[in-house]
Amino acid sequence: MTIRVALLGFGTVGQGVYEILQNKQKQLTDLIGEDVEICGLLVQNKLKERAISDYVFITDNFEDIINQNPDVIFEAINGEEPSHSYLKEALDKNIHVVTANKVMFATYGQELLEKAGKYTSIGYEATTASGTPVIGTLMNLLQVNQITKVEAILNGTSNYILTAMQEDGKPFSEALQEAQDKGYAEADPTNDIEGYDAFYKLMIVSQLLYNRQPLWSEVPLQGISHISEKDITKAKQQGEKFRHVATLELVNDSIQANVQPISLPSSHGLYAIDGVDNAIDVTGDLVGSVTLRGPGAGKLSTASAMVEDFVRIFQASPVKQLS
Ligand SMILES: NC(=O)c1ccc[n+]([C@@H]2O[C@H](COP(=O)([O-])OP(=O)(O)OC[C@H]3O[C@@H](n4cnc5c(N)ncnc54)[C@H](OP(=O)(O)O)[C@@H]3O)[C@@H](O)[C@H]2O)c1
Repeated sequence: MTIRVALLGFGTVGQGVYEILQNKQKQLTDLIGEDVEICGLLVQNKLKERAISDYVFITDNFEDIINQNPDVIFEAINGEEPSHSYLKEALDKNIHVVTANKVMFATYGQELLEKAGKYTSIGYEATTASGTPVIGTLMNLLQVNQITKVEAILNGTSNYILTAMQEDGKPFSEALQEAQDKGYAEADPTNDIEGYDAFYKLMIVSQLLYNRQPLWSEVPLQGISHISEKDITKAKQQGEKFRHVATLELVNDSIQANVQPISLPSSHGLYAIDGVDNAIDVTGDLVGSVTLRGPGAGKLSTASAMVEDFVRIFQASPVKQLS
């Protein structure tokens, strides 16, 4: 038997998934007990040169992908649509889904999870903190705990910029340029530096933990673009560091959320998180405070989260039992 895999998107993340599926074929087969075959690739521009085997079917039409009868779709394209519509259609056809698309999943995650129901699975570890296993930890390892508070650094670009400003005395614009040169920040860095990216991830965590999200318009949301060298110097003089912190707190059954830069004292669990890393500190009523730290973006790190989701899905529900 063979598991048929389709990839939506062949940018940074899609290429990472492709590489892992190619390079880890034997390990994947050992883990799942089936061979894995890439049966199709959806892109926007199918004339672009790609580093991909000749045998892989490439299309710009989603219906061609469906017609390939995939067992699972990896989705790594940008924005809410058409990703949301594609994944809905896939789930309607009992195709498992693994997504990295946080913008789409923050908005439509609950709808897609309901649609998936009992027989189809959705993996979304990669949407939040890339390869750092935040979702899996909250979903599988902290089920009995009531999570009362989450504090997290969820945007690697912002953290990189704040670190460069603090440690190397760079002005914001220079630190941003450096983040772009190193491939951490997008050509249009608005989502990162204005806090939206961290916000989407926080809403995904809220949905997972509390089965609901706060009203988006009521969540205070601030990025880091207004942080000046003067602010950084003042924090430094007080022995503190600015970090972009996304917070969720359960207060009398109401979810309080906040996304903003905060000057943290050295005693704070997120003070030591430098560079492009992400970190999440969760407080459970039984376990106390637990911190996970790791890469928050990147080709192989994000693709790693997706392929790990894929393996879990097929270990739990072998492919041919579905059809
Ligand atoms: N990059 C990261 O480190 C990272 C980390 C976590 C999550 N993510 C999420 O992963 C997703 C992909 O990110 P990325 O960095 O890989 O993006 P990217 O490099 O810009 O690649 C996007 C890919 O999607 C394809 N595409 C875009 N619109 C499409 C459409 N309407 N129909 C079909 N294909 C379409 C593009 O096709 P062409 O090649 O033809 O242009 C391209 O191959 C995003 O949702 C992002 O938020 C990224």
